[in-house]
Amino acid sequence: MKGLILSGGRGTRLRPLTYTSAKQLVPVANKPVLFYGIEALAEAGIRQIGIVVGETHAEIRAAVGDGSRWGVCVTYIQQDEPRGLAHAVLISEAFIGGEPFVMYLGDNLLNKGIVPFVQQFGHEHPAAQILLTPVPDPQMFGVAELKDGKVVRLVEKPQDPIGNLALVGVYMFGPEIFDSVKRITPSRRNELEITDAIQDLIDRGLTVTPHLVDGWWKDTGKLEDMLEANRLILETITRRIDGTVDAESRIEGKVIIEAGAVIEHSVVRGPVIIGAGARIRNAYVGPFTAIMNDVEIRDSEIEHSIVLEGSCVNDLGTRVADSLIGKNVKINRMPLKPSAYRFMLGDNSEVWIRW
Ligand code: DAU
Repeated sequence: MKGLILSGGRGTRLRPLTYTSAKQLVPVANKPVLFYGIEALAEAGIRQIGIVVGETHAEIRAAVGDGSRWGVCVTYIQQDEPRGLAHAVLISEAFIGGEPFVMYLGDNLLNKGIVPFVQQFGHEHPAAQILLTPVPDPQMFGVAELKDGKVVRLVEKPQDPIGNLALVGVYMFGPEIFDSVKRITPSRRNELEITDAIQDLIDRGLTVTPHLVDGWWKDTGKLEDMLEANRLILETITRRIDGTVDAESRIEGKVIIEAGAVIEHSVVRGPVIIGAGARIRNAYVGPFTAIMNDVEIRDSEIEHSIVLEGSCVNDLGTRVADSLIGKNVKINRMPLKPSAYRFMLGDNSEVWIRW
């Protein structure tokens, strides 16, 4: 069985970060989302993984390499434009080479992995196996309608409700899917939808097996989901302190401090991860915060946030919360009058000021 990870697309809901970076490389608990997907496939015994890439291909190739770090062999498949998930399948036909395969959306996270699903698929060999979970906002997802435990209908982002069972971004397919992706036409959003291709399997009388996911699942395409995924992963970490902590600091609960990080005169209350080379001085780092390498937090407080490499948060009067701060961002207090807000923000940035 082969694996296919979709890591193209545009990431519009995570702008401005995704102007300069692939959304699949935004870290959750200091590890790119995409790596969780590779690990899930490797854990399920899959050794040959195709990664569909788009305009951010160079960054993804640099981060993932040949896959040997996970004991897998990675082949890159270039998609010219994000023409839809079914289009990504279509262009991967030669790589898949007639084998059954697992398709994993590169921005999805499942806490319990996919081993039992892959095993069930291996025993039963349906044309497709889909994973489902109830959601409060089904209009944001592909949705399945079941009758007597069978999938009868699938609709992508339904405007009129057909139920609350969302399609999770992990699918298992037999070679029959290639005929279906060739038979469908582009949707309202001008994409070849995998949801429509699976509906085509059903219309052809082929078996599509539904499987309810237990445990949590996150599509990290939006800020709130990213922070939530970060929170859920941080809850599972084990305390490990390899960095330097001075006598005036307090480290409470589940905290990882990587070698080379320095904590001075600060309180760090887990779950928190702090990357190599980070400097935390006269600061409070509160629960559910992931601080990447070489970040500086000085004379400030931060919680429930993600801060990417090389950024600094210095001398702020108010605690930072619920934030995703990109790479090399500088947040400072103005030393001189006039006391005013001074911004230099990229397109589509968001700033929320305390009232
Ligand atoms: O997250 C689950 C949902 O994923 C499902 O419920 C939907 O049925 C499914 O269509 C998909 O919806 P999204 O609108 O969230 O998909 P998104 O555009 O975010 O793309 C998912 C991943 O696939 C993402 O890592 C980018 C990649 N991708 C996307 C497109 C459209 C590609 O590699 N190529 C593409 O052409």
